[in-house]
Amino acid sequence: PVLVVDYGAQYAQLIARRVREARVYSEIVPHTLSTEAILAKNPAAIILSGGPSSVYADGAPSVGADLFDAGVPVLGICYGFQAMANALGGTVAETGLREYGRTASEFNGEARSILAGATVPPTVWMSHGDSVSKAPEGFDVLATTAGAPVAAFANEEKRLYGVQWHPEVKHCEFGQDVLENFLYNGAGLKADWTADNIVEEQVEIIRAQVGTGKAICGLSGGVDSAVAAALVQKAIGDQLTCVFVNHGLLREGEAEQVEKDFVASTGAKLYIADERERFLTALDGVTDPETKRKIIGREFIRAFEAAEAAIVAEAASEGEPVKFLVQGTLYPDIVESGGGEGTSNIKSHHNVGGLPEDLQFELVEPLRALFKDEVRAVGRELGLPEEIVNRQPFPGPGLGIRIIGAVNEERLSILRKADAIARAELTAAGLDNEVWQMPVVLLADVRSVGVQGDHRTYGHPIVLRPVSSEDAMTADWSHLPYDLLSRISNRITNEVDGVNRVVLDVTSKPPATIEWE
Ligand code: XMP
Repeated sequence: PVLVVDYGAQYAQLIARRVREARVYSEIVPHTLSTEAILAKNPAAIILSGGPSSVYADGAPSVGADLFDAGVPVLGICYGFQAMANALGGTVAETGLREYGRTASEFNGEARSILAGATVPPTVWMSHGDSVSKAPEGFDVLATTAGAPVAAFANEEKRLYGVQWHPEVKHCEFGQDVLENFLYNGAGLKADWTADNIVEEQVEIIRAQVGTGKAICGLSGGVDSAVAAALVQKAIGDQLTCVFVNHGLLREGEAEQVEKDFVASTGAKLYIADERERFLTALDGVTDPETKRKIIGREFIRAFEAAEAAIVAEAASEGEPVKFLVQGTLYPDIVESGGGEGTSNIKSHHNVGGLPEDLQFELVEPLRALFKDEVRAVGRELGLPEEIVNRQPFPGPGLGIRIIGAVNEERLSILRKADAIARAELTAAGLDNEVWQMPVVLLADVRSVGVQGDHRTYGHPIVLRPVSSEDAMTADWSHLPYDLLSRISNRITNEVDGVNRVVLDVTSKPPATIEWE
């Protein structure tokens, strides 16, 4: 792999993603790993990430000079660039000139090495205080900026490279090209990390792990669990049983999508637990958001356990106990819970509404090396329909937390209709990819006066909550076109009985959250 050494900034994951966008496999390792341990992983190339420290600060993570003698191509970025310069005898100085954000660069001579192919000096993305003021012996200075006398350097013979700026950041001009120049030309790597290779490799790994054993997989309706299940199904066929708990809080067409589309495109064996009654009963009269969430979580576990017990009992009667549980854990979950080191004791992430901790299964996690966009690519490779692969995030508690007030079948039915209209119009306008998600919320305890035909109405408002976001941690409301908003409003008030008003939520997160509960 290409190893991205994480110096503690938020950039390491981004770098690893960009490397994979260049179709080269990458993994993140913590900077606390010794040079020996890094080299033991047999890296094809190493990228040293940015970090928050000054190389001279007490306790600043250092890089041993021996890392650069191993013959492995290395690219240093920001802090990693300075650490490389420092380790090899260059000078890093507090120039007093801080640079943040977009910064003009100058070529030192013609564009070459990792800058080859740049027609104009790129406007780069900077975030640094210290600067390299003198490059180490044998290094060729490639570029400068006002605040960085040495902004990029290379030692072609030793295949060592560095940039002060952040090529991984999207608004850094020529950024992806710098990374690709390093990977393809500097390190001589091929662009062969592709969805079909990932599928092929994972199928082998799953077969080796599971053998002739049996596995179960919970389907949430989301992308991750669907792709994980489809991969495992491809590897072990009918040894896998998928479990889908229909809690009755789904959107229109969702249960059908799992029942029909998923099975049609994967051939997976599906066990559907129709638990609508259980959830509606448990939620009867409950209005407090946290209480609703807790009830739904608790009932979900019970429903899943009941389904699991039925499947396990059947398998046992055939003499083949279920030994494996498939989970759609992704790489960011792994990195965030310990950098991918000591993988055996990383806690198991629960992507199906929170499965119990003490499940007596061995985990199968075929997506644990993948980022979200790669999961989607693998899903497409496996033939899953676009409706599943490109699905916008939908909360586990479903429409239960989009009805403000108590949940009942009548209210669910109103919300389902309104939501289906809003989604259909968004799709028809070709704007699915413009929004991160668009919750549609029913204010079930609020009524307002309206007029329809010659009649006074006293109905409920529907809230549209379209948001744009990178990661759901922060979000802004999406500025959807007015004509689209009026089409949605017209259709909902005309077609959905009980709704006489549609309002738009124009709040960012923070201070609001994306969902209303
Ligand atoms: P909030 O409302 O906290 O939502 O801004 C952030 C993102 O998380 C989703 N969400 C959930 N997803 N189970 C989930 O799987 C949940 O209980 C849950 N609650 C919120 C929400 O849709 C948004 O994408």
